[in-house]
Amino acid sequence: MANDLYRIVYCSRNLIDEHSTSTTHDAELESILNASRVNNRSVDVTGALLFNREYFAQVLEGPRTPVETTFERIQRDRRHGEVTVVENGFAGARDFPEWAMAHAAPASGQMEDGICATLQLALLQPSANGEDVLLLMKDLVIQD
Ligand SMILES: Cc1cc2nc3c(=O)[nH]c(=O)nc-3n(C[C@H](O)[C@H](O)[C@H](O)COP(=O)(O)O)c2cc1C
Repeated sequence: MANDLYRIVYCSRNLIDEHSTSTTHDAELESILNASRVNNRSVDVTGALLFNREYFAQVLEGPRTPVETTFERIQRDRRHGEVTVVENGFAGARDFPEWAMAHAAPASGQMEDGICATLQLALLQPSANGEDVLLLMKDLVIQD
């Protein structure tokens, strides 16, 4: 199929602290990124993951079947909740072609509050804020 590039963007609430001690919080995030990079590379899925203590936001892009299968697995993960799709559908080009899973991190000096506000709004009104979340992630991506 000529255009089989599919994209899902979702936001969720970070529940890692409810299932582990804060000392293992960073280790959990590291293990999520590592599993993502290994698994996603093997099925041609790329994307980016943004997180802080309260929220996650993730972009998954690639052929539709592996994107959906990966997202179904992620949805069942108890390390987050209120998983809310803010954008999904076919796309013209990948936004994160270089990364099996980029870590989208705030540049120094960038207001953490602004990021929280965007993600909070996206959870409340997913259909109106999908584009903002995607733009935020593209803005923040750094190679980790
Ligand atoms: C916020 C979040 C994002 C995740 N993103 C991915 C991902 O992009 N790819 C992936 O394979 N697993 C991802 N995971 C982990 C999966 O839920 C699951 O634990 C993992 O795929 C299992 O991999 P394994 O069978 O190789 O251990 C994510 C988990 C969370 C909580």
